[in-house]
Amino acid sequence: MKEFKAVIFDLDGVITDTARYHYLAWKRLAEAQGVHFDEAFNEHLKGIDRMGSLDLILASSPRGYTAEEKLALATEKNEHYKELIATMSPADLLPGAIEALDACRAAGLKIGLASVSRNAFTVLDSLGITGKFDYVVDAGTIARGKPDPEIFLKAARELGVAPPECFGVEDAVAGVASIKAAEMYAIGVGDPRVLAEADIVIPDLTAFSLA
Ligand code: G6P
Ligand code: MG
Repeated sequence: MKEFKAVIFDLDGVITDTARYHYLAWKRLAEAQGVHFDEAFNEHLKGIDRMGSLDLILASSPRGYTAEEKLALATEKNEHYKELIATMSPADLLPGAIEALDACRAAGLKIGLASVSRNAFTVLDSLGITGKFDYVVDAGTIARGKPDPEIFLKAARELGVAPPECFGVEDAVAGVASIKAAEMYAIGVGDPRVLAEADIVIPDLTAFSLA
């Protein structure tokens, strides 16, 4: 990995298990709307922004929704999600996360965060790791969510590193697609059958290595 100058991490499902909380919050909303929701469907939502995820869920609903109704549902999901993450602390870091961040720092890499979550700053703060990043993309400034490359390209630009000299770390199919569209090297975290587009796949960050 000697040729790389920067690493750009995803947050949810890579550094902490908030992917579980997004799943629970969307499941409650979907079922209240009469839409079947399971882990397989949720896999398509990972890395997809809030309104994009809502649209995918409501596409299976028997009824139509006005823009106001959709906004109200997205707000309701986010309120539930915020309740679920309210008690997060450094104990919620996934195994290997701190070690991976510290190994990147020790290797002299710039470290960025590219999450489309508008709760990312709060989550980083609760985990006590805000200071470990040189740059965190503000999801509110991104026009096109993953799989578009915009968020990874913005992180690279702000870190002052050319995209081919960056690698991204992602747990979501849409996130890996975003990294590859940005012409970066992609480390997938999870199941290699799901993250087939990644350059390599590790089961979790305890297997993260710069060798
Ligand atoms: C991440 C998660 C998605 C979530 C999105 C928006 O990408 O993987 O599941 O929908 O962030 O999160 P937000 O906190 O803004 O609703
Ligand atoms: Mg993720």
